[in-house]
Amino acid sequence: MDSPRDTFAGAALVTGASAGIGAAFVRALASRKMDLVLVARRQDRLEVLAREVEAAHGVKALVVAQDLAHPDAAGAIRRAVDAAGVKVGLLINNAGFGYYGRFEADDAASDAAMVDLNCRAVVALTHAFLPDMLARGRGGLIFVASLASFQPTPYFAVYGATKAFDLMLAEALWGELSPRGIAVLGLCPGYTHTEFQGVANSAVGSGIGWAGPERVVETALAALGRQPSVIDGTANFLLANASRLATRAMVARAAEWASRPPDTSLPGTRSLPPVVATGGFQRAVARLLLAFVAVVAIDFGVLSLFTRQVRFWFPVWLDPGWAARADPWVVYSQSYFAGVFFIPVLAAAIAREFLAGARASVKAAYWVVAAGSLGFIGWWKGGLMVQYGKHREAVAWLLLAAFLYASLWLAETMPARLARVTRTALLAGLARGVALFFLVMAVVDPVLQVGVQRLTWSSGLVIEMGFFVPAGVALLFASRRLRAGASA
Ligand SMILES: NC(=O)c1ccc[n+]([C@@H]2O[C@H](COP(=O)([O-])OP(=O)(O)OC[C@H]3O[C@@H](n4cnc5c(N)ncnc54)[C@H](OP(=O)(O)O)[C@@H]3O)[C@@H](O)[C@H]2O)c1
Repeated sequence: MDSPRDTFAGAALVTGASAGIGAAFVRALASRKMDLVLVARRQDRLEVLAREVEAAHGVKALVVAQDLAHPDAAGAIRRAVDAAGVKVGLLINNAGFGYYGRFEADDAASDAAMVDLNCRAVVALTHAFLPDMLARGRGGLIFVASLASFQPTPYFAVYGATKAFDLMLAEALWGELSPRGIAVLGLCPGYTHTEFQGVANSAVGSGIGWAGPERVVETALAALGRQPSVIDGTANFLLANASRLATRAMVARAAEWASRPPDTSLPGTRSLPPVVATGGFQRAVARLLLAFVAVVAIDFGVLSLFTRQVRFWFPVWLDPGWAARADPWVVYSQSYFAGVFFIPVLAAAIAREFLAGARASVKAAYWVVAAGSLGFIGWWKGGLMVQYGKHREAVAWLLLAAFLYASLWLAETMPARLARVTRTALLAGLARGVALFFLVMAVVDPVLQVGVQRLTWSSGLVIEMGFFVPAGVALLFASRRLRAGASA
């Protein structure tokens, strides 16, 4: 956009100008010499920003403090703008908020205010200022929608719906109005560093696709007048369009799973038996493992069909010369060993996810089958590895499996454990660590110096032991007392 001041013939009215994307619009347009009308509720902030851009860029900035959720907000703003003799050439419908949480737990009045602000006020303001733009034959409308406009957004249900409304409104008006000289744009930011997440009660952190409000605004100004809508950022573009590859039901399910609130005690959430600590992580692991089993099952079916023998080993597709290898079974058995070791984790996950309410006899039968499968595969694949002298590989797989189990266990239990750590418990742990170090050193030092290095017994060692042993024991006792106090 070259010169917005000439293109739109009037000031830019920015709603939600007291923070985030709105404030960035104000600064960006002021630097392009556009006069401004700043609208939001927090008048003090608007005044500060208005004076800032007036001083920095020599533009005029009018402040209209107004709650846009009020039924007559658009009328009040129009009257204030007329009273100040300002013509609005570009309307930026930016003010909005969202709320993350279960629909039934949302405050109904707040949801209604969200619809009022994100949708009704947008329509009312557009009605208030569009006729003049049409009469002048030029003008601009920006509707700040969202990445949420492209898909159902469980736990952000009302917000996502309002943003879908904004995007559809923008694109429809682009169709209607762009032939008549009005530039219309639906702006779809992804996660943006503003006050939005705080207001929305959303705890998402920074990550891929996040942007600063300044970049979002530059994206909008570059696209205005050229296209009906724009998604800010390449990662966000890919994400928004990825949802088109699946059905909306699939997208809703996946989004529900990805953004489910952690509180499992609320109605509508299945409570899982505590095989291991509950939470999204276990479900994620369970699903991963189920996917793995699905791959094995397909592999098994297809290969057995093709080779007319009961067999399964995936990489045969990647290595057509497999049969000529000296130990074809073993090579491919190894690749499966990793998966084999997952079987107990998988079995536990299936039991937790699907058999929670099953009869004891069903559970017992299930575990017999699971253990039998593990035994059979271990015997078959493990036997082959031993037969071909692949002992080291077998041990390596065992170690890897142990490492994976330990990592999973840690990942599952750490959050709960960390939540229990108090300052006293931390101190107790520290004391215990130092005590163990002292006690180990009391033994290792003399063994190293006298036994390995063949040095003579020195008085230094006696002093060291004389210090390490009593200090270690004293610290151990202190740690025990602290731990007892922490758990009391
Ligand atoms: N940040 C993101 O990750 C993100 C992503 C996609 C889309 N968006 C969209 O971007 C737009 C701007 O949000 P933001 O990220 O800049 O959030 P923000 O930093 O929280 O700013 C929201 C603005 O809206 C104003 N506002 C809220 N309720 C209002 C009301 N009832 N009446 C008048 N003004 C009101 C606020 O001002 P007062 O509190 O002073 O009234 C503030 O200026 C929103 O439409 C949002 O849906 C944001």
